[in-house]
Amino acid sequence: MWSSVLGALALATIASACTPSVTTVSGTHAPVTVCSGAMIFADDFEEFDLEKWQHENTLAGGGNWEFQYYSNNRTNSFTHSGRLFIRPSLTSDQFGTNFLSSGHLNIEGGAPADRCTNPQWWGCERTGTPSNILNPIKSARIRTVNSFSFRYGRVEVRAKMPAGDWLWPAIWLMPAYNSYGTWPASGEIDLVESRGNRNMFHNGVHIGTQEAGSTLHYGPYPELNGWERAHWIRRNPSGYDRDFHRYQLEWTPDFLRFSIDDVEIGRVAPGNGGFWEHGGFNSNPNILNPWRYGSKMAPFDQKFYLIINLAVGGTNGFFPDGVSNPSPKPWWNGSPTAATDFWNGQSAWLRTWTLDVNDGQDASLQVDYVRVWAL
Ligand SMILES: *[C@@H]1O[C@H](CO)[C@@H](O)[C@H](O)[C@H]1NC(C)=O
Repeated sequence: MWSSVLGALALATIASACTPSVTTVSGTHAPVTVCSGAMIFADDFEEFDLEKWQHENTLAGGGNWEFQYYSNNRTNSFTHSGRLFIRPSLTSDQFGTNFLSSGHLNIEGGAPADRCTNPQWWGCERTGTPSNILNPIKSARIRTVNSFSFRYGRVEVRAKMPAGDWLWPAIWLMPAYNSYGTWPASGEIDLVESRGNRNMFHNGVHIGTQEAGSTLHYGPYPELNGWERAHWIRRNPSGYDRDFHRYQLEWTPDFLRFSIDDVEIGRVAPGNGGFWEHGGFNSNPNILNPWRYGSKMAPFDQKFYLIINLAVGGTNGFFPDGVSNPSPKPWWNGSPTAATDFWNGQSAWLRTWTLDVNDGQDASLQVDYVRVWAL
């Protein structure tokens, strides 16, 4: 009899130890069982675990003609003192200055870990010309695309934003399987983005290191993207580059909510019309809704994976023309020679990166930890 009581107790303990969660996961580092409230992914960056984080290897420029070349190189990404650093460097340090305007880069590698990860926008092979130079900055973008993706949960990333003109750090999530089609039909969740300029103003507002933003991208095709109705910023007069902050996402079957240091900066809780209605797309009856058979959260009702990167510049307007900065923005967003124009302005921006001080820590995106919990 006692043994059956003990057996029943043990069963009860096991049962209460794992309440099933609405969260679902996949990937080589995803837990087999998902218990409500449990931590389901974490990295404290005590070491650089490339089983969790796959490097991008591409010249693609993020679809925005950004100026960086992403590769797997410990100059640009490393862990040190329990932190991840993503640090920019000059492509000319490796190949020489002349190479930018006359060299040929084919970054496809033979080893599985060296494959070019994004051939879009001439991402695997480019030839530099004087008006259209090769990507002048080297940096890194890492992702959990094979190791971990999840649907619904809580995310917290403790990070310090970089300082330096035209640096564009981002910690974000992309859909694992594009269940509703290619970008932006399957969505994009930007947990935090900022700009490294210490004194940049747009219409009188500091939009550099004093601003951090969170955004959702969603829409039936690239020209129809409802991000402006799901974009929030929070200002910090001390600058997000001065200290570590906790960037948080709460993602449930009813809402997505962004916070910084436990203070909500924005949320979206779509009604029964879902993101189709939230984006205002329902006003055009000629466009087919790719989410019509999804839940009201679609496209945010599928698994996403994590990305951490440090980009530079680009021509999509993230750095608007007409900003006021101690040294003016060296390229126009409409310029066909944007990367060359940026490079020619080097004497002004490179010193703001202080790469020669402290191994470039100020210009580095630093991440203390990434943690994800099941709902
Ligand atoms: C890594 O980056 C450094 C600095 O740019 C460069 O000198 C080195 O050749 C790179 N390593 C590889 C394998 O490309």
